[in-house]
Amino acid sequence: MALTRPLVPLVTVLCLVGTALSRDPAWNGHTTPTSLQLVSFTPYYVPPGAKGYDSTSPLISYKGSWTDQYSTRYVGKSLRSTSDPGAEVSFTFTGTGIEWFGNTDNRHGLAIVLIDGKPVEEVDTYSNHSMPLRQQRLFWRFDLLLASHTIKIVNTAKRPGATKDTVIDLDAFVVTRGSPSRVRVPQTPVDASTVPSQLEIRDSAPWTLVQRGTTGVAAMQLAVISPTHALIVDKVEHNPLTVDGHPAWAALYNLENHSIKPLRIQSNSFCAGGTFLGNGTLINVGGNPVVETYTSAADFGDLNGLQAIRIFQPCDSSDVSGCELYENHARIRMASPRWYNTVIRINDGSAMIIGGSKKGGWINNVTVNNPTVEYYPPKNIRGSNGMPITLPFLVKTLYSNLFPIAFLLPDGKVFMAANRDAMIYDWTTRTETYLPQIPNGVRVTYPMTGTGLLLPLSPDNDYIAEVLLCGGSTVDDTKPGYKISSQDPASPQCSRLILTEAGIKSGWNVETMPTARVMPDAVLLPTGKVLLVNGGASGISGYANVLNQVGASNADNPILTPTLYDPLAEAGSRFSSEGMPTSGIPRLYHSVATLTPAGGVMIAGSNPNLDRSEVKYGTEYRVEWLNPPYMSQERPSMTKKVQNVPFGKNFTINVHFPAGDASDVRVVLMDLGYVTHAVHANSRMVYLKFSSGAGVLTVQGPPNGNVYPPGPGWLYLVVDGVPSEGMKIMVGDGRGPPVDEAALRNVLQNTAVDQHN
Ligand SMILES: *[C@@H]1O[C@H](CO)[C@@H](O)[C@H](O)[C@H]1NC(C)=O
Ligand SMILES: *[C@@H]1O[C@H](CO)[C@@H](O)[C@H](O)[C@H]1NC(C)=O
Ligand SMILES: *[C@@H]1O[C@H](CO)[C@@H](O)[C@H](O)[C@H]1NC(C)=O
Ligand SMILES: *[C@@H]1O[C@H](CO)[C@@H](O)[C@H](O)[C@H]1NC(C)=O
Ligand SMILES: *[C@@H]1O[C@H](CO)[C@@H](O)[C@H](O)[C@H]1NC(C)=O
Repeated sequence: MALTRPLVPLVTVLCLVGTALSRDPAWNGHTTPTSLQLVSFTPYYVPPGAKGYDSTSPLISYKGSWTDQYSTRYVGKSLRSTSDPGAEVSFTFTGTGIEWFGNTDNRHGLAIVLIDGKPVEEVDTYSNHSMPLRQQRLFWRFDLLLASHTIKIVNTAKRPGATKDTVIDLDAFVVTRGSPSRVRVPQTPVDASTVPSQLEIRDSAPWTLVQRGTTGVAAMQLAVISPTHALIVDKVEHNPLTVDGHPAWAALYNLENHSIKPLRIQSNSFCAGGTFLGNGTLINVGGNPVVETYTSAADFGDLNGLQAIRIFQPCDSSDVSGCELYENHARIRMASPRWYNTVIRINDGSAMIIGGSKKGGWINNVTVNNPTVEYYPPKNIRGSNGMPITLPFLVKTLYSNLFPIAFLLPDGKVFMAANRDAMIYDWTTRTETYLPQIPNGVRVTYPMTGTGLLLPLSPDNDYIAEVLLCGGSTVDDTKPGYKISSQDPASPQCSRLILTEAGIKSGWNVETMPTARVMPDAVLLPTGKVLLVNGGASGISGYANVLNQVGASNADNPILTPTLYDPLAEAGSRFSSEGMPTSGIPRLYHSVATLTPAGGVMIAGSNPNLDRSEVKYGTEYRVEWLNPPYMSQERPSMTKKVQNVPFGKNFTINVHFPAGDASDVRVVLMDLGYVTHAVHANSRMVYLKFSSGAGVLTVQGPPNGNVYPPGPGWLYLVVDGVPSEGMKIMVGDGRGPPVDEAALRNVLQNTAVDQHN
């Protein structure tokens, strides 16, 4: 799918872009394939399945004085503009989304946008250019209920500092219809006074699902970075959120007021992985070359991302000012190209980068496979001197073995599952120890995507590790795409393995989910239960590869109701969907879910498409918030802020318990993970030892970096099954991971930048 541009022209194009950058920081150019000419970039895009309406459409009505301008550079060759104060344009449409396109330049000013009569935004159409930038996206909204709506735009004819009347114009509207909701998702949390009386007899509050906010870039990758924000990373595509005049492909999402801030990324982060390091810096790793085909009509100036390591320094301020992704492939990069790699933090706080393929494609194969691990910062392990270390496991597990499932174990080794196999990797000696094969031929990694978790670790049993794998597919991975169907059933299997000698000997314990799921997300809750959400009941991951695609999706039959899994309940009664709300939003390929600091679950994404599309299953920007019953109960709290938690050291927290028994009190340390492609990298929960006094708990930090790798974590106090809000802490000494200067130098001297094969 992802065709790549040959190396030589790419380099030339990059030089040109570089020139453009130095000329105008608000880079607004693009090159068409095979051409080296920079032309101005126009964000106007009508996704497949959406509909554009030119300014001359009879469905659009105008009030006040408007004039037409004609040029081939306008949508429909015409533009309508006004400098008349109070002039209006209105348009009634049926759909879930609306976009307004027009010019910006230094004569333009402010407009008020109203939807269904309510003012929703003041839009500034000014840009510091005397020549207009054309076909710019001036306003967008993608979270309307599917119904008839009216957008009205009113010219204020003003701008701060303007000395005469300003202009606004309309080039076109684009309407996104969106999929009809099977169930109408409430726009506001359920208000207790309006809950029907039959619900009042429940002894506990129900789960609620609320749709609020949009991500602006498709949420392919998601990580909570602070008490107030999550990082969202996408691939290069026609997202509505823009930065520097072109679509953005990363953003910071405000978890409290749902505002979004676009982030600049230089290279294509398509299918990258990520992790925090021991010092709290997040790295985003790998990606794709510059993509042509659909997006060729809009090359956003991105660079090849296959070897990229993008640095995101700790960002804890609530206004996220100064938080940016930094990239410089000449100085910071992987030794080898990786697409669909898994990245985890290991016990010394550095990143282990596992597998992937050497170029974008679909199912892995011998030619493109990158069956190695490497580290960031680079390590010298038994002579590797920073270079990739072969992992025979990733040869043995071809073909369905991308985005391996991996977890650091409490003995410092690493559990890995890929395709139908699992093993334990001792990274210090480079040795693999195979585990029993996953039962019943179930494949658990891309594109037969299942999900995996390390179950909560507890000092009560000396941190015995147990892994849980759920979903995936038994489709034969040697079949070509044209012999696989979106209707092939997914696997309903979950399997657990206790990683002790006895546990391994007794093998995997198999259980069956109430519904089969491919691409599920497993989210650990502070209560120790696991939420299974997202995914489909048939097909596999990816788009545009198999028979009976739905739109471009390789999967179908989205599962709209989550399931709760209680690992400690008796076998046979661990799964429950009782009281779970059903969503109207399918979450298939490129969907994500994470626990939030507040204790709810953020659900976003779904984009089984090469570029933004409105054809079922379209690109989904709406966010949903799934709130467990405890969110509406009286909650315990921690009143003293703790920042650093050294290994094995005691610290105190002041606590407040809700009224009641408080017969079951726990302090849990969680890593909320880096989520993409159903891989919840680093997801972890560790029970901490503590003793209690009056209103104070003395808590002991985790014993070492094997039990919890040094780096950021979230502390939750759980009283009788009700968690507090999470408190962000730094576990360990907060220092950076070890840097082996010789290995780092070796990588930079002996590997090329942006290798292609
Ligand atoms: C507009 O651009 C000019 C030239 O690039 C620059 O000198 C000026 O400061 C800019 N004005 C504003 C308000 O940004
Ligand atoms: C959301 O909160 C941030 C940071 O507190 C603030 O800068 C921003 O203006 C707020 N946005 C909205 C829409 O309230
Ligand atoms: C291996 O995968 C790549 C990328 O998808 C593809 O271009 C190539 O044709 C495949 N090779 C074989 C032998 O299937
Ligand atoms: C640290 O806390 C643990 C758990 O509360 C307790 O058992 C231990 O005695 C404490 N150690 C010290 C040195 O206070
Ligand atoms: C953390 O370590 C990484 C890797 O050495 C480094 O790039 C980054 O700047 C460090 N972050 C901080 C905040 O020191």
